[in-house]
Amino acid sequence: MRSVTLPGGERVPALGLGTWMMGERGGHEPESVAALKRGIDLGMTLIDTAEMYGDGGAEELVGQAIAGQRDRVFIVSKVLPSNASRTGVAAACERSLKRLGTDCIDLYLLHWRGGIPLHETVAGFADLRRAGKIRHWGVSNLDLDEMNALWAISGGENCAANQLLYNLGRGGIEWDLRPALSMRGVPVMAYSPLEQGRLLGNRTLKQVAAARGATPAQVALAWLLQWPDVIVIPKAANLAHAVDNRGAADMALTPAELEALERAFPPPRRKMPLAML
Ligand SMILES: NC(=O)c1ccc[n+]([C@@H]2O[C@H](COP(=O)([O-])OP(=O)(O)OC[C@H]3O[C@@H](n4cnc5c(N)ncnc54)[C@H](OP(=O)(O)O)[C@@H]3O)[C@@H](O)[C@H]2O)c1
Repeated sequence: MRSVTLPGGERVPALGLGTWMMGERGGHEPESVAALKRGIDLGMTLIDTAEMYGDGGAEELVGQAIAGQRDRVFIVSKVLPSNASRTGVAAACERSLKRLGTDCIDLYLLHWRGGIPLHETVAGFADLRRAGKIRHWGVSNLDLDEMNALWAISGGENCAANQLLYNLGRGGIEWDLRPALSMRGVPVMAYSPLEQGRLLGNRTLKQVAAARGATPAQVALAWLLQWPDVIVIPKAANLAHAVDNRGAADMALTPAELEALERAFPPPRRKMPLAML
């Protein structure tokens, strides 16, 4: 599995596993856990979750999937903005650790920018690092002006990742945000890389996939995996989807394929407001 380097030098898998909409009431829990376990076995050992998903239910499923193999896995979780005060972040992290059945989260993110001053959240993250409860911290859904505000705060330079909506049809961050993150060595974690499945019916994507004997999902993921500083976290509750997605990590799109995709999904020509799901 190809890896992406975090600021500080640690390497994490470029292709991981998402968990949004897992662990919800009435969901298919055994199937989701089986898909996560298969994903881990196939080398997708970075798992993205959040206290928000299924009101903690997704973190509990991750806990089941990693039981007995915690050391193989890099766990990413997120704190809600409403919990992101200095003391709130500590309490939220404790709850997440309990649900995950572990004593340390590898990367802990602010889910999106809320009303609590960023310096409070950064201080809370620093406390958690000192206490050994998290190893790295980062953010999600922060645009360039918000990143600049973060980097201006004492300790803000320790931000290890920004998790952003990024896929073939959502290239807005390429205008200024991705280059600014790249300059600082901060990876992008591309969320909803399949646009929650909606991308997969696109004609060009289907044509490129059919011509090389791949699936549209694999081509969409391989397009994101072409960059050395992008971590991709598709969600698959279906085991066959997890296996299919793993195939993307072994694919390199040709210049002709990339050109066809660029024609169908043109890159941004101006600054776009940051898109979120
Ligand atoms: N930070 C944020 O604000 C934020 C926001 C959104 C998402 N995220 C994170 O990013 C992860 C991924 O994003 P997402 O869940 O929104 O959407 P996604 O990964 O773009 O798409 C997931 C959907 O695609 C289907 N799928 C997966 N692999 C497939 C394949 N090979 N062939 C056909 N269909 C396939 C899944 O079906 P099955 O489940 O049935 O397999 C599911 O319906 C989330 O789970 C979450 O961890 C973060």
